[in-house]
Amino acid sequence: MCGIVGYVGSKRVVPVIFEGLKRLEYRGYDSAGIVYLENEALVKFRCEGKLINLENHVGEAYLSSSCVGIGHTRWATHGAPTTDNAHPHSDCSGKLAIVHNGIIENYHSLREELRERGHKFTSETDTEVLAHLIEEYLEDDLVKAVRLALDRVEGSYALGVIWTEEPHTLIAARNHSPLVLGVHDEAGSFMASDIPALLPYTNRVVFLEDGELAVLTEKGHTLFSIATGEKKERGEVVIDWSASMAEKAGFRHFMLKEIFEQPQAIANTISGRVNLETGEVTLPEIGLDDQALGKIKRIFLVACGTSWHAALVAKYWIEKWARIPVEVDIASEYRYRTLIVDESVLTVAISQSGETADTLAGIRLAGKLGSRVVTICNVVGSTMTREADGTIYTHAGPEIGVASTKAFTAQLAALFLLALFLAEKKGTIDLEKRQELAKALVGIGPVVEKELPLIQEQIGTLIDSFYDCRDFLFIGRGMNFPIALEGALKLKEISYIHAEGYAAGELKHGPIALIDKEMPILAIVPRDGVYSKVISNVEEIKARQGRLVLLGSRGDTQLRTLTDDVIYLPEIHEEMNPILYTIPAQLLAYEIAARRGCDVDQPRNLAKSVTVE
Ligand code: F6R
Repeated sequence: MCGIVGYVGSKRVVPVIFEGLKRLEYRGYDSAGIVYLENEALVKFRCEGKLINLENHVGEAYLSSSCVGIGHTRWATHGAPTTDNAHPHSDCSGKLAIVHNGIIENYHSLREELRERGHKFTSETDTEVLAHLIEEYLEDDLVKAVRLALDRVEGSYALGVIWTEEPHTLIAARNHSPLVLGVHDEAGSFMASDIPALLPYTNRVVFLEDGELAVLTEKGHTLFSIATGEKKERGEVVIDWSASMAEKAGFRHFMLKEIFEQPQAIANTISGRVNLETGEVTLPEIGLDDQALGKIKRIFLVACGTSWHAALVAKYWIEKWARIPVEVDIASEYRYRTLIVDESVLTVAISQSGETADTLAGIRLAGKLGSRVVTICNVVGSTMTREADGTIYTHAGPEIGVASTKAFTAQLAALFLLALFLAEKKGTIDLEKRQELAKALVGIGPVVEKELPLIQEQIGTLIDSFYDCRDFLFIGRGMNFPIALEGALKLKEISYIHAEGYAAGELKHGPIALIDKEMPILAIVPRDGVYSKVISNVEEIKARQGRLVLLGSRGDTQLRTLTDDVIYLPEIHEEMNPILYTIPAQLLAYEIAARRGCDVDQPRNLAKSVTVE
């Protein structure tokens, strides 16, 4: 949450900061701000609302010749999303400015102390405390003052600081919030909360670790430990994402583009990892040799939101094929229950961003309890990937739309790979079954590719009838129950229609009371092992005049006898249905939200990377 960008070098800083912030706006869009150094003074602009407001407000200053500055796009934690609370924040002298992502937990006591010492505060934020605290220690050495200030701070931060008295320097520091440096031999030094902000300028990055500070100049950067001041060395990583991957490419919204990128995201995730002839899966990156595997008696899947839905599907796959008991935990709950976790447990954290605070806290706890930790993650070098014992990367490319789409189906592909890998190692499936399942997995990308335009067309016919409904229920059974949850989440988060997902068989234990002739219910009814059970649940809804939308198998004529609103999908290997049936759920949410004029890519109150607990 919150995106920060900083730059020092030979380019005009204002466009560099705006380019970066545009690519980070998914992290928060309550307000935005920029500050740069010009004629030995700080020039600051801040605005409520989206970045576009700030861009309009900056006017001709966009062309400033300044080459040093920092910027911020905010997701409010402390203090309302007003201009006064927008970053950058300054000290009393107005010579120092700071942008911050994270939470200063002891800000209250620090603020009181600083107030008593005469500091004047102009915002309600925790961040402003940092500006004044640095000022308190500032004599003639900015690095020293920042280190001393950070030594007093409890909580999380990724921050950028500039000071008029050291006009060629930008300080970056991190603790429990993501921060990455961009390296360019001629253009200078960049910093940002996430890689896409750097991509227009460089794909050479250096990841800061917790407790580190970097001094950035036009010539490069130097890393230090905040606690000891000791110099540190860290190699560059070359990222294989391009700037254009983080652009809309003619699509109306990032979300739609990302829905259509799913065949590629799935193919990239599977590529090189599965052998069709032998059905064998290779995942050397998780470092699970036969001995390590022999110790594993249970698996915990830990994740939040959409990634948690992927975990719910994976439970079916792993238990069915690898015969290992699986527990699925919402990361924000995981830490607050009595955990029976030790070295016999494999913990798998699933996260698009690799930065979600709750999931991160979960894997840290699991590690402490002796569990081996593997992540399934989309962002190279993110905190989870660095802290886990191994990572299975999903190669979905940058996901910019706040609602997760391609990352989800890529996670499903990665989790299916993991299930096959474990099954083969445990010897719970034979060659023939391995080949069959590997073929099903490799085949799903092309099916999605072919079906996407057809599904979009079919969804289009429903929008007039459903775009203005108040509520929506989604039901599914077995492996498709989590897809019902995911469909409901997609719809509620981008269209603001109240939506709930239920296990179809559970409806009669309460939720069926909601059904009347106004209530739309989407049921996932492929011809699979639980088909007749779901049909019975659908009949129960029809008997109560619910407005049914059915997602089912092409050629299933029975569905049309239940409702006119049927989306037909091809009959494929049952195990791949969760991936295929996700597509109409995503497109339904997208088309309804777009029709309602909602801000699809940046829904209200949300941020993509949830780095606060
Ligand atoms: C919903 C959505 C969120 C994320 C959740 C976890 O569309 O995107 O529910 O899935 O915040 O994020 P990651 O996967 O980055 O840990």
